[in-house]
Amino acid sequence: MTVTSPEQMRDLGRRLAKLLRPGDLVLLTGELGAGKTTLTRGLGEGLGVRGAVTSPTFVIARVHPSLSDGPPLVHVDAYRLGGGLEEMEDLDLDVSLPDSVIAVEWGEGKVEGLSEDRLHVVIERTAGTDAQDCDVRGVAVTGVGPRWADEDLASLAG
Ligand SMILES: Nc1ncnc2c1ncn2[C@@H]1O[C@H](COP(=O)(O)OP(=O)(O)OP(=O)(O)O)[C@@H](O)[C@H]1O
Ligand SMILES: [Mg+2]
Repeated sequence: MTVTSPEQMRDLGRRLAKLLRPGDLVLLTGELGAGKTTLTRGLGEGLGVRGAVTSPTFVIARVHPSLSDGPPLVHVDAYRLGGGLEEMEDLDLDVSLPDSVIAVEWGEGKVEGLSEDRLHVVIERTAGTDAQDCDVRGVAVTGVGPRWADEDLASLAG
């Protein structure tokens, strides 16, 4: 689908949040400044969690507790993490996942071992000469595993 502003990206995150439940793992892929954190901010708003989702300076994983009785959002920015599951293991994501929604930026090759069920969100600046300045993003949301087999992800385009 096509997203033409940061506000629309947050809206997409809010809609996506309605599909999420404890145990869900969301992997966000896209280059620097693609909009991964912007979408995750929408996830946080949609889930109704405490604190605004931001780009962490030092913190790699931040837990946003629910303001009601929903699951917390664990926002992970794995950009500074080296490869391999060892450093990831220190975050105890496997412990928090069953009761949380976990959204991971830069997690490819690092967090797949956490769950056979994953939602992949791939954000791309659409090609063009002004791609760096352009606000238009292509977003593809793909479910992996039985959890997502029957979810209607096409409705997200709404
Ligand atoms: N359609 C769009 N969707 C999302 N962000 C957009 C869009 N158009 C412009 N932007 C801008 O692009 C930037 C996206 O920043 P954001 O922190 O969300 O990216 P990121 O993918 O998390 O980057 P990083 O890899 O550094 O963590 C913001 O400044 C936002 O305002
Ligand atoms: Mg980010």
